Amino acid sequence: MTAATSTNMIDQGLANTIAAESKMSFIDGQNGVLEYVGIDIDALARNSTFEESVYLLWHFRLPSESELAAFTDQIRNEYALPDQMWQLIKDLPKTASPMHAIRTLVSALAMHDPEADEQSPEANTRKGIRLLAKTPALIANFDRHRKDKDFIKPDPSLDIATSFLTMLNGEKPTDTMAKALDVCLILHADHGFNASTFAALVTISTLSDVYSAVTTAVGTLKGPLHGGANEAVMHTLNELGDISKVEDFVRGKLERKERVMGFGHRVYKAYDPRATYLKTFAKQLAADTGNQNLYEMSRRIEEIMAEAVAAKGIHPNVDFYSATTYYSIGLDIDLFTPMFVMSRIAGWVGHCIEYLQDNKLIRPRCEYTGPHSSPYVPMNER
Ligand SMILES: CC(C)(COP(=O)(O)OP(=O)(O)OC[C@H]1O[C@@H](n2cnc3c(N)ncnc32)[C@H](O)[C@@H]1OP(=O)(O)O)[C@@H](O)C(=O)NCCC(=O)NCCS
Repeated sequence: MTAATSTNMIDQGLANTIAAESKMSFIDGQNGVLEYVGIDIDALARNSTFEESVYLLWHFRLPSESELAAFTDQIRNEYALPDQMWQLIKDLPKTASPMHAIRTLVSALAMHDPEADEQSPEANTRKGIRLLAKTPALIANFDRHRKDKDFIKPDPSLDIATSFLTMLNGEKPTDTMAKALDVCLILHADHGFNASTFAALVTISTLSDVYSAVTTAVGTLKGPLHGGANEAVMHTLNELGDISKVEDFVRGKLERKERVMGFGHRVYKAYDPRATYLKTFAKQLAADTGNQNLYEMSRRIEEIMAEAVAAKGIHPNVDFYSATTYYSIGLDIDLFTPMFVMSRIAGWVGHCIEYLQDNKLIRPRCEYTGPHSSPYVPMNER
């Protein structure tokens, strides 16, 4: 906190501000713990599915078998895109970055939803289901459009991860690949009031609508200090190309006081528990797909960072090993952050619904530090 001239303190980056209560995810940054509704993220990654984890986050409890089946059906019944959305994908420039495209497409969905401005929790949950269900088709088919491939419609007999990979690649993924993506979706589904979730809350707190909140959140997630870090990690690994170059690269970055992407976190000062899981996962997938070099380089970066800055509480975050994981699944680098979107819709929508139960407009103040009583100087005298 920095002292301001008024009685208030400036909390730069809101790092020490607790903006509201939530029952969705618990983070203990000192001990490296993340729980969704009290259940450890590791247990969910090992045993749950993305769909079940979303149910947990939105209903604050695990579903029964029949509840999960009904929830899954609701999602799959909403997979199909409105006809005009296919045309809109075609109209987007093929050179557009997927995050720009997705922000536009998610925003456009609102105009095809008669409930877009309905604000009841039930309507907002239905919109959340639509966003969750339709976004994978938007991402996969924007990728097909830019590669001059024919569109592939989502398959309601498949779960979200399998349906997405089938649309993306034109063939069903192996069980290992589908499971890998499903686990990544679980791990990214919610994380307290991270920047994009908070951005969504600022929007919903004006009593705007869920589509606007999610559009705001997509734009916020895109930055390299947030969701964009996984792409930056992969570019780094590709540029390095060889483990022998790692040490000079990392030490050079630290000497120049530059950030090593995929490290550090506002809340975690211990190892990010999502990174713990992804590290093991990335190792196995890299070995299975001939990408050991990527994993070995990542491990070496981690070793050098540990010697240099672990004492300052800087460890790998979720984006560090998700880069190797996504690359091993066969995703293009600029689709890494869109995977984060596909998953974090769960957190964005859940927090919006929760916040609206006791809504208060989010509107902080700034400490004005400019001049006062300045004269208005006419143009010809300036
Ligand atoms: C995530 C992040 C923005 C959090 O930043 P923050 O809470 O505002 O922390 P600060 O920027 O105040 O950094 C605190 C110190 O750690 C250092 N630091 C933080 N992240 C670092 C990184 N990735 N590489 C090198 N040093 C880092 C800062 O230089 C600073 O050092 P100093 O005290 O000597 O000046 C930051 O760690 C970062 O930029 N990481 C890289 C991007 C990334 O991976 N983002 C994904 C997050 S899930």
